Amino acid sequence: MSLETDVLALAVEIAREAGELAHRRRSEGVAIAATKSAVADIVTEADREVEALIRDRLAAARPGDGFLGEESGAAGGTTDVTWVVDPIDGTVNYAYGLPTYAVSVAAVAGDPDPGTWTALAGAVFAPGLGELFTAARGEGARLGGRRLAVASEVGAAGALVATGFGYDPATHAGDLERLARVMPLARDIRRIGAASVDLCYVAAGRLDAYFERGINPWDHAAGGLIVQEAGGLIGGLSGGPPSREMTIAAPPALFEAIERALTA
Ligand code: IPD
Ligand code: CA
Repeated sequence: MSLETDVLALAVEIAREAGELAHRRRSEGVAIAATKSAVADIVTEADREVEALIRDRLAAARPGDGFLGEESGAAGGTTDVTWVVDPIDGTVNYAYGLPTYAVSVAAVAGDPDPGTWTALAGAVFAPGLGELFTAARGEGARLGGRRLAVASEVGAAGALVATGFGYDPATHAGDLERLARVMPLARDIRRIGAASVDLCYVAAGRLDAYFERGINPWDHAAGGLIVQEAGGLIGGLSGGPPSREMTIAAPPALFEAIERALTA
């Protein structure tokens, strides 16, 4: 088995176990543990518990690998592999009882920096939807057993485009201004509330495109590879990598059109 296949199998096993734990905790009720960057940026007890479970399972299976998680931060390793993890992406959905949240687990080679890493494998498991999206580098993207492909063309009505808004109210005017620039390309907009799921939906052709400012590496590490392996592009502005400045995911022609609209 290749390294990619090995780490994908582990990502899937751990994302499933972690997702089932998150789902069980959700049915027992959600406790907000703290707020983070802004009052709207919450962390639940489950976010922390689920990340601890993922970290423990990875340390047991591949003790030399590095780790970068949203809740517990970064730890270097002795191999070239780092795991980039969001234990619950879509925490606000989770806290409100909306089903669209996901565990996102990716393995990357190199430093956990989207500008330089090579994503090896990713699993996004959405237990409230009962869907598991996966990809290994060079081996395609899948929903369950089905191969995924990004939308082949945008109809005359325009693209179905997802986006998101930062937790800090000070960023909302800018986010709305960027949305207004993209709107002429769109037939309609979706705000799904979990970046990893937005990306998987682009890979599945359920959305034509996704763009958002303020996204972190753990939000897009797995979903970005799933988009690429489904024939799409993920990146930032002016040929740069996906970053907090901007992350765009779409089939190639639409990617360029959105990038142009945002930089015009
Ligand atoms: C958030 C979600 C949301 C996006 C935010 C992310 P979290 O992740 O992906 O859709 O708009 O930018 O921070 O906080 O739920 O893990
Ligand atoms: Ca999260």
